[in-house]
Amino acid sequence: MHQLKDRGFDHRTPSEITPAAVYHARREWLQRAALGLAGAGLAPWAAREAFAQGGAPGKLAALPGARSAVAGGLVMDKATPYDDVTSYNNYYEFGTDKADPARTAHTLKPRPWTVSVEGEVKRPKVYDLDELLKLSPMEERIYRLRCVEGWSMVVPWVGYSLAELIRKVEPTGNAKFVEFTTLADKAQMPGLRSSVLDWPYTEGLRLDEAMHPLALLAFGLYGQVLPNQNGAPVRVILPWKYGFKSAKSIVKIRFVEKQPVSSWERAAPQEYGFYSNVNPQVDHPRWSQASERRIGEGGGLGGLFTKRRPTLMFNGYEPQVGQLYAGMDLKKFY
Ligand code: MTE
Repeated sequence: MHQLKDRGFDHRTPSEITPAAVYHARREWLQRAALGLAGAGLAPWAAREAFAQGGAPGKLAALPGARSAVAGGLVMDKATPYDDVTSYNNYYEFGTDKADPARTAHTLKPRPWTVSVEGEVKRPKVYDLDELLKLSPMEERIYRLRCVEGWSMVVPWVGYSLAELIRKVEPTGNAKFVEFTTLADKAQMPGLRSSVLDWPYTEGLRLDEAMHPLALLAFGLYGQVLPNQNGAPVRVILPWKYGFKSAKSIVKIRFVEKQPVSSWERAAPQEYGFYSNVNPQVDHPRWSQASERRIGEGGGLGGLFTKRRPTLMFNGYEPQVGQLYAGMDLKKFY
């Protein structure tokens, strides 16, 4: 078998695969892989190749998604390796150390699972996970995720726009905000013993933010269902906001008239505002937000000498979401 060496991983060469369609599909995949979009694609071989590229090891159920056509839905940055995405996590219900969730979240039971969609809507409903999975076609979205702590990742998520679900429940005229509540079960979550946050973890968005096509209801990453530590079985991803807005393991979505208070706002209101849009010009009270470290990039010694990248306004999604905040004082509404 011919081998192509690429960043230490082995590929079979295209010449080994005979049918022309397969060859061309594969060539497209290799080009995408070269762009750092490994792990993307629909064909069964894509998941295997993703593994060869540092993608998902195939232990979890496959969850393919069609390449997203949403503006800003596929960033061209090199994707963060699966191992980093799934071993460097913030999920305080499973401990406050970055390595804790990967070690302890095996106790989370992502099935059976329901999400109650309620409040100011014409069609409130308790959705079973299987129903949610079928509600709209799955898409792959390659998003940057910027954590308020100053690091970032690039992850190929699988899901569909939250707007698809919102349209189904028909918000009333009183619905101005959306509140997300996540699971808080002492039997499954050892971190609940600590009072670092008020449990359950809650988050909120303005309704128009939640309706933005980039707001993703995510069920998977790297072509497989979400690992527990990344928020199985369903979470949101708001790529233009600091990572803590992207609530994991959601059990309730409530439409309300008044701006909800999130767990982080309640814990430290002077540090974490309701909007929490990524903004390199507004410092966190204790550190600058002007630059970031990309997880999985470069060097030993914990990446101590890795070059930091400048943080982009709205995490680089300004062309898509800037209009949502036109005229707002972003220092005041941080
Ligand atoms: N959701 C819950 N329920 N609990 C958490 O502790 N942490 C947030 C967010 N969602 C968190 C959560 C933070 S701070 C970040 S940066 C992202 O999840 C991390 O998501 P990831 O581990 O998939 O990268």
